[in-house]
Amino acid sequence: MTTIAVLGAGRVGLNLATALHSAGHTVTVGARGPVEAPAQIAIASLSEAAAGADIIINALPGNVSVAVLSSIAEELAGKVLIDIANATERGPDGLPSELLYPAGSLAEELQQALPRTRVVKTLNTMLYTVMTAPQSLPHPATAFLSGNDGQAKQSATALLTDLGWASEWILDLGDITTARAPEAFTLLTAPLLKAFGFTPFALTVSH
Ligand SMILES: NC(=O)c1ccc[n+]([C@@H]2O[C@H](COP(=O)([O-])OP(=O)(O)OC[C@H]3O[C@@H](n4cnc5c(N)ncnc54)[C@H](OP(=O)(O)O)[C@@H]3O)[C@@H](O)[C@H]2O)c1
Repeated sequence: MTTIAVLGAGRVGLNLATALHSAGHTVTVGARGPVEAPAQIAIASLSEAAAGADIIINALPGNVSVAVLSSIAEELAGKVLIDIANATERGPDGLPSELLYPAGSLAEELQQALPRTRVVKTLNTMLYTVMTAPQSLPHPATAFLSGNDGQAKQSATALLTDLGWASEWILDLGDITTARAPEAFTLLTAPLLKAFGFTPFALTVSH
C-alpha cells in the first residue's frame, strides 16, 4: 500500500484517485476549492495532500503545472512525481492546438523546476478512461515511461500494474527528455476527437 496524492480534481484526477483507492492505496486528492468526490476519497489542499504522500500524481492543467507545483516544492522534495498532464495552447474549439513547450516538454520543465523531486512522465497518450481500464480497447494501449530515476520508474510501474496494465504494455522510453515524443501526441487529440467523437482512444505501439 502506498500513500498517494492526486493533485487536480478534474475528470482525470478523480478517475485515477478512485481506481487507486479501489486497488488498496491510501489516496488524497489535492484541490484548490470544494470538490464533489466519492465519499471514500479524502480531499485536502494541494500542499497538505502532497506533504502527506510518498507518490504525487500531477493531474493539473499543463499550462499551470510548473507554477503550481513550484509553489509546493518543499512538499514534493524527495518524492516521486508522476506527471500525466499535457501542456498545450488551445484553439478556438477549445481543443489542444499547439505545444506549450515545443522545444522541450512539460516533464523536463517540471524536473528542472523541482530538482529534489523524481519526475516520471506516463499515461498522457490516452483518454482518461483508458488510464484505469487499459484492457477496454480492442488492442492493448501502450503506457510510456520517461524519467531520470530507475527506482521512480519502478514505483510508477507498480502503480500502473495496480491499474490493470500488463508489463508488456509498459514501455520505458528512457530519460526525461524522451517525454517530448509522447507529449507531442497530444496534437492528435483534436483530430481524433473530430474523427471518432468522444470515445476512448490511446496510442498503441506494436512491433
Ligand atoms: N481528459 C483527458 O482525457 C486527459 C488525457 C490525458 C491527459 N490529460 C491531462 O490531465 C490533466 C487534467 O485533465 P482534466 O481533463 O482532468 O482537467 P480538468 O477537468 O480541467 O481538471 C483540472 C483540475 O485542475 C484544477 N486546477 C486548474 N487550475 C488550477 C490552479 N491554478 N491551481 C490549482 N488547481 C487548478 C481544477 O480545479 P478547479 O475545478 O478549481 O478549476 C481541476 O480540479 C491535464 O493536464 C490534461 O491535459 C487529460
